[in-house]
Amino acid sequence: MAVGIFDSGLGGLTVYDAVSKRLPEVPIVYFGDNAHAPYGVRDADDVYDLTTKAVERMWEAGCDLVILACNTASAAALRRMQESWVPTDKRVLGVFVPLIEALTERSWGDNSPPREVDVQHVALFATPATVASRAFQRELAFRAIGVDVEAQACGGVVDAIEDGDMILAEALVRSHVDALKRKMPEPQAAILGCTHYPIMHDTFQDALGARVKVYSQANLVAESLADYLERHPTMIGTGEKNMFLTTGDVRKVSDRATQFLRRRITFESA
Ligand code: DGL
Repeated sequence: MAVGIFDSGLGGLTVYDAVSKRLPEVPIVYFGDNAHAPYGVRDADDVYDLTTKAVERMWEAGCDLVILACNTASAAALRRMQESWVPTDKRVLGVFVPLIEALTERSWGDNSPPREVDVQHVALFATPATVASRAFQRELAFRAIGVDVEAQACGGVVDAIEDGDMILAEALVRSHVDALKRKMPEPQAAILGCTHYPIMHDTFQDALGARVKVYSQANLVAESLADYLERHPTMIGTGEKNMFLTTGDVRKVSDRATQFLRRRITFESA
């Protein structure tokens, strides 16, 4: 039995970490498409082609359920995959919905009409492709009214994290937060809409100020996966061991992953 967690690179490890703590008995196949990261500057067809290829590899590794722990792939490819590509006995889920449910204080399956919620001014930090897709605003509009979302495309942050250049990543985060604040001086909440960004959580929080509530996805996705598996226990596939697959340089990716998670992670070639 294994569940797949996919990302363009290292960012999905933030989700992997939370899922492995919440569901320690569930084997996980992690796939990082590091050779093709970042996805955030690619067009939707390109992201769709790369994502479907990776997910096929995860079916082969014994997963029946794959989480796209990548907002860019969730925004650019998920709907198309669910509508016309995913076989009937498999599932692919994204990472937007658990986050929006938390922001709007809704529980799973609450399909009541959109209503006013506590937060009115929300800053969204995401990749250029996720921002351009407006997928976050679309999902939010199904559930909440009267929320003003200001989106900031954070060019360069994913590349810096993938390269392990945390000084550059920090400088870029601060400059993106400054740019956001020029457009929305007092956000009440901030969404880290890219799974790489929780690695820079403290820098976002520091630059935004302590009064801003920063939402990131890892724990929310883990909780929602646990709930999903309770309702659909047969969706745990046949895979039996934890695996870390990458299209990138196995040694480099293993070293960075070990640095981020502070425990030894060994990738193998996808
Ligand atoms: N971690 C991804 C996301 O959540 C990846 C971004 C990228 O590859 O640009 O959007």
